[in-house]
Amino acid sequence: MPKTLVITGGCGFIGSNFVHLLLRERPDWHIVNLDALTYAGNLANLASIADDPRYTFLRVDITDAEALNAALATLPAPPDALVHFAAESHVDRSIVGPEAFLNTNIIGTFRLLEYARKHKQLRYVQVSTDEVYGSLGDEGAFTEDTPIAANSPYSASKASADLMVRAYHHTFGLDVVTTRCSNNYGPFQFPEKLIPLMILHAKDGKPMPVYGNGKNVRDWIHVEDHCRGVLTALEHGKPGEVYNFGGESERDNLQIVQQIADLVCGHHDLIRFVQDRPGHDWRYAMDITKVRRELGWEPRVTFATGLADTIQWYLANPEWCRQVLSQEYRSFYDQWYAGRTNA
Ligand code: NAD
Ligand code: DAU
Repeated sequence: MPKTLVITGGCGFIGSNFVHLLLRERPDWHIVNLDALTYAGNLANLASIADDPRYTFLRVDITDAEALNAALATLPAPPDALVHFAAESHVDRSIVGPEAFLNTNIIGTFRLLEYARKHKQLRYVQVSTDEVYGSLGDEGAFTEDTPIAANSPYSASKASADLMVRAYHHTFGLDVVTTRCSNNYGPFQFPEKLIPLMILHAKDGKPMPVYGNGKNVRDWIHVEDHCRGVLTALEHGKPGEVYNFGGESERDNLQIVQQIADLVCGHHDLIRFVQDRPGHDWRYAMDITKVRRELGWEPRVTFATGLADTIQWYLANPEWCRQVLSQEYRSFYDQWYAGRTNA
């Protein structure tokens, strides 16, 4: 049972939801959050717990081996577990500029694995994605045995990292578990991803851009269900195993955009069909038989409830949205942290 847990990328969408969940559900754990605070990392996501004595934040770029090891050396004892969320996570950005994806997602993972190799007591959880399996046709679902067939620079970088994790287990005996999850939605998601982008555009009367014909399908899961899945895999997963998580909640993109338009502005006039994403994966769907059977995990949040709550959250937090969209928080971080190490 871990007492000190290092997480990477805790200021991002899923990582910050995971920190909130852990502080509620594992009150005796100490959480150390390593995050570089890229455009997607936001201290406001954790402002409500920033002074909690069970929580420590260290600003670290995981690709920088020296900084990473120096930060981890400040801990009173080596951690019991490490859950690796940090990544460049947006497919469209990986098409515009793949290099950051190779650096953070592959080299960053390699740096953490090297740390884990020197601290073999540590359980390592790799938070990965259904996108490593590629794209489905209209039928079927990804299982843990589906061959890796990544199609975007993002998913190829995540697949490369997953293979390094596998190799470090096989070759060096590291205690690793890999989770692969479908599309998350919920509070604190950066509004470049479909659901928050559409909520904010509908609210502000801006065009709602649907790629291609809007018929691509994703399997949506509420972020809290995913976080409970990662926690379950951390505590009960078998070394070397891969676990798929998904919400069993397939929707095509147009259905979702229309539903958001209905709930936020009450009409479809803002919806625009735009040029498709290059290499756009057609459909993702997760077979979650294994996590049901072996870990006793089930998604709890229905899409209807989760979407309504998420819309409510974005509408109730205009200052968070304004700040994230203005990017002013980034120039503040750059000033604030200039010359500070591990602040
Ligand atoms: P996000 O983009 O919201 O957050 C990423 C976080 O990582 C940010 O806080 C950022 O500052 C940090 N980070 C980026 N580069 C870093 C570096 N070099 N060093 C340290 N920190 C760095 O991402 P997310 O949506 O929360 O995704 C988290 C993880 O879950 C990712 O590994 C992603 O591949 C995976 N995942 C995401 C989804 C999804 O739907 N969002 C689904 C399945 C899996
Ligand atoms: O499947 C898990 C993955 O889900 C994660 O690994 C990624 O980190 C996460 O970003 C997400 O990837 P997607 O590419 O599926 O998510 P995104 O929100 O970017 O897009 C969802 C779908 O909506 C996709 O088919 C593209 C479409 N889309 C997206 C945007 C931003 C649009 O039609 N219009 C848009 O403006």
